[in-house]
Amino acid sequence: MRKILVAGNWKLNGSLADTEKLIGGVLAGMDQVQAADVAVCPPYPYLAQAQGLLAGSAVSLGAQDVSDQVSGAFTGEVSAPMLKEFGCRYVIVGHSERRALYCEDDEFTARKFAAAQAGGLTPILCVGETLEEREQDITESVVARQLDAVIALSGVEALENAVIAYEPVWAIGTGKTATPEQAQAVHEFIRGRVAGLNAGVAEKVQILYGGSVKPDNAVELFGKPDIDGGLIGGASLKAEDFLGICTAANQ
Ligand code: PGA
Repeated sequence: MRKILVAGNWKLNGSLADTEKLIGGVLAGMDQVQAADVAVCPPYPYLAQAQGLLAGSAVSLGAQDVSDQVSGAFTGEVSAPMLKEFGCRYVIVGHSERRALYCEDDEFTARKFAAAQAGGLTPILCVGETLEEREQDITESVVARQLDAVIALSGVEALENAVIAYEPVWAIGTGKTATPEQAQAVHEFIRGRVAGLNAGVAEKVQILYGGSVKPDNAVELFGKPDIDGGLIGGASLKAEDFLGICTAANQ
């Protein structure tokens, strides 16, 4: 039985004061969270602060991006060993905003995934189609291409120590959630593709759904057989909403 994971992606939001308040609020409600593993992914400058606030708690820390490089002349980059040193367990790679706004392609994302694992982090690999791609009925081939780039570089076994997040681009920050049936269909496709290469890995890998997850749709989404939790953007910025999603896993 796979455990539910709920990870909050704060994106480019926050301040020292916000981090303290938000993490304080989440920690205060963690006694209600029975069934889910929980992680928060603040912006880089707040990782050290978050590490301190989360010390000794059940909430894990993650980062939103990682360099494909370890060290050297790569201005502006942050490496996996650096993130590890600040207590990160997870790192998001290949978020659609990175892919679309910063031109990060499948191969680059695959190198980041490999760098994350080499540095001892668990990558949360984001895949998902745009609205145009869904309308063209090529969702499965897009998601397969994104996944295959990682498998080609790191091997299918690498997914055993990774998390996949299916995030339809048209559902991110739009308030337009994929229906639980639409999401389940793609999750099933992803697991099936992994199973075609290694059934054991497919059985174990957590596949999260992301895209306008809220407390009132989380129960139904998490109830689907191949949905193992959520990657939460907007709703992760309010402790009450985020906790509402985390407790959805109790049911
Ligand atoms: P959203 O973002 O929950 O605000 O739609 C999800 C994500 O981008 O990870």
